Amino acid sequence: MSGAAVNEYHPGLEGVIASETAIANIEGTDGAGGLEYRGYRIEDLADKVSYEETAFLLLHGDLPNREQLREFDGRLRKARAIPEALVTLLGEIPANIHPMDALRSAVSVLSHFDPDVNAAPTDHEANVRKAERMIAQMATAIAYRRRLSKGLPLVPPREDLDHAANFLYMVSGKVPSKTMRDAFDLSLVLYTEHELNASTFSARVTVSTLSDIYSGIVAAIGTLKGPLHGGANEEAWKVLERVGSPDKAESWIQDALARKERIMGFGHRVYKTGDPRARILKEHCIALAKEIGDDRWERIAEPIEKAVTSQKNLPPNVDWPSARLYHYMDLEIEIYTPIFAMARVAGWAAHIIEQLDHNRLMRPRAIYTGPPHRPVRPIEQRS
Ligand code: CMC
Repeated sequence: MSGAAVNEYHPGLEGVIASETAIANIEGTDGAGGLEYRGYRIEDLADKVSYEETAFLLLHGDLPNREQLREFDGRLRKARAIPEALVTLLGEIPANIHPMDALRSAVSVLSHFDPDVNAAPTDHEANVRKAERMIAQMATAIAYRRRLSKGLPLVPPREDLDHAANFLYMVSGKVPSKTMRDAFDLSLVLYTEHELNASTFSARVTVSTLSDIYSGIVAAIGTLKGPLHGGANEEAWKVLERVGSPDKAESWIQDALARKERIMGFGHRVYKTGDPRARILKEHCIALAKEIGDDRWERIAEPIEKAVTSQKNLPPNVDWPSARLYHYMDLEIEIYTPIFAMARVAGWAAHIIEQLDHNRLMRPRAIYTGPPHRPVRPIEQRS
């Protein structure tokens, strides 16, 4: 790359093409816009494929046939147990530490116990095996940490339950209803992958130094945590609580915007006319609210959406409905972002593997804005 490109500065890297990828397309290959995973439209995948099928698609390049799915799913189910040393650590991390911070530590610890720990960072097959283990074990680590920080007894994984149902079971000790399991599974499918979002980008930057896949995932978890990214699903719930009733939505939003506050769960760097994931999840929010017989939050969410759209022209993003969806499942707000991470790990891993398969060190430039060249004075002459 010549020096010419260096002179073009795009704050926040907006619009900058930093990678090639065959994993996701957020413009739609048929020109119709929208999100595709390896050429499959998200609307076609939603409600038709499970999280396990989606993870296989991202890691292995296409949807699995029955036999491939049976083997893949079997490997995930068998890999769910986490090392005792990690269970102990999860119990000893102070209870007030945010679950995303505990998850970041957990993944770092998992790396030490991975059977492929000594494989070269560029070993494609070993990276796929590590990715599969992380998909299985991050879910267990999140659920265990939740229960340990609440002083509750652990609920070990059940091999007869799929990924979504098993996670909800490990958190609550109850096997979820079919509607709940299906909605949770769908939310994982929608969260699995999203091109070069901030956390995926940081994962790719990390491994572009030929660092290992676990380091890439740890970097991604740290990046996802922020409220402008994955942390928005927790913040979106707080917006609903603060507004509190449908009749207050219009004025609450007006006041918040007047104070130049960001309304969490709205807006997107790329989707300016709407996030297709939000449209899909909203329908499931309505169905689940009906099943639990409490549509209060749907009645509050609707006028908030209308107010943000009319006052700021910002449509909701995926984090807006997911906050309600998880609330209906009795999941506590602090694990909303870890759930995003346990889904996105398949996308992160696919990107890390793609980066390492065709690596070039990521090393952009900056425009210098500091003082011009100046002499170094001996310490006694400095003011
Ligand atoms: N509420 C109020 N104003 C907003 C919002 C919002 N949610 N989003 C953008 N704006 C305004 C912003 O204040 C600015 O206004 P002005 O031009 O008057 O100063 C203008 O829109 C452009 O903002 P920007 O930050 O330059 O735009 P961006 O493309 O970088 O924004 C975003 C993308 C996601 C950071 C932003 O929309 C935002 O902060 N949203 C709230 C956080 C959120 O929901 N994040 C989740 C993103 S999607 C899934 C995920 O990654 O988890």
